[in-house]
Amino acid sequence: MEILAHKNVLIIGATGGIGREAAKLLKQSQVNLFLTSRKPDELNQLGTSLDVPSDQLFRLDVTQSADVNKVAEAIHQKVEKIDILINASGIGIIKPIEKLTDEDFDHSVDVNLKGTFYLLRAFLPGMKAAKKGLIINLPGVLGKTPMAGAAAYAATKYGVNGLTKSVREELRRTQVRITNLYLGGTDTAFWDDIEMKVNRDKFVTAKEAGRAVWFLCQQPSSGVVSEMVLQPFNHQAI
Ligand SMILES: NC(=O)c1ccc[n+]([C@@H]2O[C@H](COP(=O)([O-])OP(=O)(O)OC[C@H]3O[C@@H](n4cnc5c(N)ncnc54)[C@H](OP(=O)(O)O)[C@@H]3O)[C@@H](O)[C@H]2O)c1
Repeated sequence: MEILAHKNVLIIGATGGIGREAAKLLKQSQVNLFLTSRKPDELNQLGTSLDVPSDQLFRLDVTQSADVNKVAEAIHQKVEKIDILINASGIGIIKPIEKLTDEDFDHSVDVNLKGTFYLLRAFLPGMKAAKKGLIINLPGVLGKTPMAGAAAYAATKYGVNGLTKSVREELRRTQVRITNLYLGGTDTAFWDDIEMKVNRDKFVTAKEAGRAVWFLCQQPSSGVVSEMVLQPFNHQAI
């Protein structure tokens, strides 16, 4: 297992259900955390509870390419490189296609797909220069398999799948690893505004999902865990 202590770990969407649980476990492993969120109050509270210095907390909307670059610059002024980048940001708009608006579709693409692109473009150069690093994305099982109502969401997550697999081809001469964690239904605020009837009691818990992220961070750097799948018992989509 990889020793995590003192590694520079950046969590995007750290105040979300999965990001927050991963942050707590990573703190226990004594990493040097950098956290982002769009919610300054929640971010400050989380930062205080995990003893993260205030200059390692960043307000960030991943749809804003220039802001992603600014955060990367600020971090790279402080540390040479990020060792582990965890992208735990994302939104889910689940509606039948005839109810999907242009805004729904655009917003899904902007956050889930373009946000991932902006992050990879901003943080890969530091990792490539060091020839080392780990990027963990959370495409979810809907990045691999379809679901009724998930046209916009799955389009973006299949996109993340294609994006990251292609980038992986560019990283072959380095030890920069990309791991995609494919989660099934996980009980977080992600589902709060989704009208589809689901049984959240049977979902993977946010804690378990955070633990999976933490587990992936510790995998030996001599190999690459390219994928991991974690799904609820009662709904194994893949
Ligand atoms: N929950 C599931 O069933 C499930 C299953 C498979 C995959 N996933 C994926 O797992 C990831 C985390 O989801 P979650 O379940 O933890 O949901 P969550 O609790 O709703 O958290 C989502 C996070 O995304 C952030 N976010 C949303 N829009 C953003 C933007 N424009 N810029 C920056 N951050 C933004 C939110 O930030 P704020 O806190 O600042 O709003 C929040 O931290 C997502 O990519 C999701 O697609 C979830």
